[in-house]
Amino acid sequence: MRAKLVAANWKMNGSFSLLDKMLDVLRPNMGNTSCQVVICPPHVLLSSLNNAVEGTGIEVGAQNVHSELSGAFTGETSAILLKECGAQWCIVGHSERRMLFDESDEFIRSKTETLLNHGIRPILCVGESLEQRDSGTHEEVVVAQLRKGLSGLTAEDQSRCVVAYEPIWAIGTGKTATPEQANSMHTIIRKELESLASPEVAANIQILYGGSVNVENAESLLSQSEIDGALVGGASLKTDDFSQIVAAGL
Ligand code: PGA
Repeated sequence: MRAKLVAANWKMNGSFSLLDKMLDVLRPNMGNTSCQVVICPPHVLLSSLNNAVEGTGIEVGAQNVHSELSGAFTGETSAILLKECGAQWCIVGHSERRMLFDESDEFIRSKTETLLNHGIRPILCVGESLEQRDSGTHEEVVVAQLRKGLSGLTAEDQSRCVVAYEPIWAIGTGKTATPEQANSMHTIIRKELESLASPEVAANIQILYGGSVNVENAESLLSQSEIDGALVGGASLKTDDFSQIVAAGL
């Protein structure tokens, strides 16, 4: 049985004070949920988050990492340092990184490997554009991203990954995939994981949905058999909304 996981992707938003407010709202409810909760704020907030979540069960996630461990990469952060800041998770392959920062599948794959080598669990994002969905190539696009992102990883390493299906047309647009559309893509992803790793490993990998998840649609999405949680952007910046989405993952 896969536990539900709800992760907050703050993107380039948030502040020290939002962190305090968010934890004040989440903390009292953590005892009532079996849902795993991960907060991925900007890097500069990671240490504070890590100190503040002690004993709450809330987990710490980063939004990005470099594949190299040190060197002349101005502005980048290594997996070693993320680990020191308490990161247990890191998002990789988000469509904003793929599109705005030209990240290739190969770079994403090497980031994933570096994270795994340093005990940080990757949340590997995959998802198609609107044009790809309209032209009917969405399934092969997502499967190709998955294959490239996980290529060369052992089944054991793959078992440490979480996959997030985030159709680009649903991110920040208010347009959500229907629960059926999401569930059917998740089924395809799990089938692919079965052949990449093994049926046993695939059965335990959590597959999250992301793209305009909000208080209104969280329950219907999270009640789908193949949807194991959510990667939440905009609504994760609103304390009450995020707390209600976590509650929907009960
Ligand atoms: P959104 O973002 O919830 O604002 O659509 C999700 C994401 O990009 O991870």
